[in-house]
Amino acid sequence: MPVITLTINDELVSGRRGESLLEVVREHGITLPTLCHMEGLSERGGCRLCIVEVEGSPRPVPACTTMAREGMLVRTHTTRLIRYRRMIVELLLAERNHYCAVCVSVGHCELQNVAAALGVDHVRYEYLSPRVTMDLSHERFGMDHNRCILCTRCVRVCDEVEGVRTWDIAHRGVRSRIMADLNYPWGESETCTSCGKCVQVCPTGALFTKGAAVGEMVKDPGMLRRVLEGRDRKEWEG
Ligand code: SF4
Ligand code: SF4
Ligand code: FES
Repeated sequence: MPVITLTINDELVSGRRGESLLEVVREHGITLPTLCHMEGLSERGGCRLCIVEVEGSPRPVPACTTMAREGMLVRTHTTRLIRYRRMIVELLLAERNHYCAVCVSVGHCELQNVAAALGVDHVRYEYLSPRVTMDLSHERFGMDHNRCILCTRCVRVCDEVEGVRTWDIAHRGVRSRIMADLNYPWGESETCTSCGKCVQVCPTGALFTKGAAVGEMVKDPGMLRRVLEGRDRKEWEG
């Protein structure tokens, strides 16, 4: 891949053509928070946590869906960006019911980790406190809509890696909900293979293994890489 040169936070850095800004930024040791991004899945650019400022662009752009280009001038941690990232996390926390103390993912939750890293110790917005349900109809797994941040990692892993697309999004705006098949209880899904990939990629306690204790609900971020690399090596072909 041809090498390109760009400036990130006043430092001249190199990247490869075809890489996203997020990839280049991370390759150079700069930490950018992400929630909807997951290596191995298509990019959605939905959570907006990875926003950066690019010279010439009137508004911040998500680094995960913006390609790195020759000569770009990029800033990753301006006061405005840090303020926006805090606001985004606070809005996510206000939108559903994130009672971390009683969540199966407490201590292993990416939302909680990002909030802590950004110094979010209170929420300035009114909590919407929606009445949302849990779906415990699946034999092995559960879905707690209270904790869902609509990152769609579950939708994408099911579609792009497992190849069945059990999950999708129903409704719009704050009423959006992840749904199985055409809004059936997960346990009645005719497409779900019970592979558990969606549970492993979910960044919060929204998707969990039934009966697992908090200490056992550590997600396995390396699972996706192992599956994809194994497929490349044709490990499971007879
Ligand atoms: S368990 Fe597997 S097949 Fe079922 S919804 Fe999750 S990713 Fe899709
Ligand atoms: S269930 Fe989990 S993976 Fe799926 S959209 Fe909600 S937070 Fe993301
Ligand atoms: S990680 Fe880039 S928008 Fe979510």
